[in-house]
Amino acid sequence: MKFSILSGILANALSVAGVVLWDGRFNEFTSSTDLNNWSWGNQVGPYQYYIHGSSPVTSYVNLSPDYKNPADMGSRQGAKITLDNTAYWNGQNMRRTELIPQTTAPINQGKVWYHFSLMRKDTNAPATTREHQIAFFESHFTELKSGWLSGAPGVSDPLLRWCVGGSTKWSTEWVAGVWHNVAYEIDFSANTVGFWHSTGGDPLIQVVAPVSASTSSNGADWHVGVLELPRDGYPDTTEDYYWSGVYIENGSLSKGVSGPDSVPDPGPSSTTTSSKPVSTTFKTTTTTKSDQTSALPSSTRTTTLITTDHTTGISSSSTRTSSSAISSTSAVGCLASQWSQCGGVNWSGCKACAAPYTCKYQNDWYSQCL
Ligand SMILES: *[C@@H]1O[C@H](CO)[C@@H](O)[C@H](O)[C@H]1NC(C)=O
Ligand SMILES: *[C@@H]1O[C@H](CO)[C@@H](O)[C@H](O)[C@H]1NC(C)=O
Ligand SMILES: *[C@@H]1O[C@H](CO)[C@@H](O)[C@H](O)[C@H]1NC(C)=O
Repeated sequence: MKFSILSGILANALSVAGVVLWDGRFNEFTSSTDLNNWSWGNQVGPYQYYIHGSSPVTSYVNLSPDYKNPADMGSRQGAKITLDNTAYWNGQNMRRTELIPQTTAPINQGKVWYHFSLMRKDTNAPATTREHQIAFFESHFTELKSGWLSGAPGVSDPLLRWCVGGSTKWSTEWVAGVWHNVAYEIDFSANTVGFWHSTGGDPLIQVVAPVSASTSSNGADWHVGVLELPRDGYPDTTEDYYWSGVYIENGSLSKGVSGPDSVPDPGPSSTTTSSKPVSTTFKTTTTTKSDQTSALPSSTRTTTLITTDHTTGISSSSTRTSSSAISSTSAVGCLASQWSQCGGVNWSGCKACAAPYTCKYQNDWYSQCL
């Protein structure tokens, strides 16, 4: 009896927050040119970057703290994803700028939540006269859409929609300057998808309970970005889409805009002195940048580090007096989260893993925190 109560409490405690299976929040990016690290022959970093026009990456993707949802304290910066008049990929007649998760984590199995926040401005607003498919899967079993839907009557459409298999289940007028926070509740076992939504800094609310869907994904076909269908007679105006808080979790849903709520046990060997979320950490780029680029010799590494726990997206300021908690192979003292890459040919990101995970060799190009 006592034992079953205890295990019930334990089970509840364990289900408090989800496991971040994949983290696309750009916290480790210096700039969008880091996307060029990825290639088919060298599949590193959190994103596959190949669906874009032929101009340099900065024509299509740019990163800045100004581009994120300011209420999202789990993201250091957001991405501005752009369609300009060169944004035609691979000879197609559609403008496309899309990023795809690069991961071997089971993001296409069981019940998972796909998180992101999306905003538009009046400047370079997405055209209301063409169909845009946003944050979509290859099979389009679920996605957002904006603008006039191909084949619909009329000329323009101001709505932002959530669609399942092409049919609209929820919509709102897409107003400039409003952050839309989204989680797709996908159950790949039950073949259902539900929709959680909020605006600004509000916690997510389930606005559409799970509905039947042809859920399928190979784990590398969620398109973080936008595909625009062509329409004769309408010009290719430049369009900007702002994104932040992109990650995928399982377990239970994190409803807060800043991502997973739980603060993990930092582990016995850590000398972290402050463990509560420090919401201002990501407010200055310079602090984090100097951390990322510092190459202090380990003997002088008695310093204040900005530690980002990518399991939770929570950052804390901490003073480390020795490198006992840090693997000596880590050049900048950063710790990669579960599922993150931690090694491989030319890998220059974090080379040690956050407790209790260890860096496991997968192949010459890829080691992962497991
Ligand atoms: C991309 O590669 C550069 C140079 O090796 C490295 O400094 C940077 O951290 C990498 N970016 C990411 C996001 O891994
Ligand atoms: C979340 O995914 C991890 C990795 O596959 C798995 O070990 C864990 O059991 C999953 N949790 C739930 C609740 O599905
Ligand atoms: C690793 O970096 C070197 C030097 O920049 C480069 O010549 C080589 O092609 C890179 N290897 C891979 C697999 O990208």
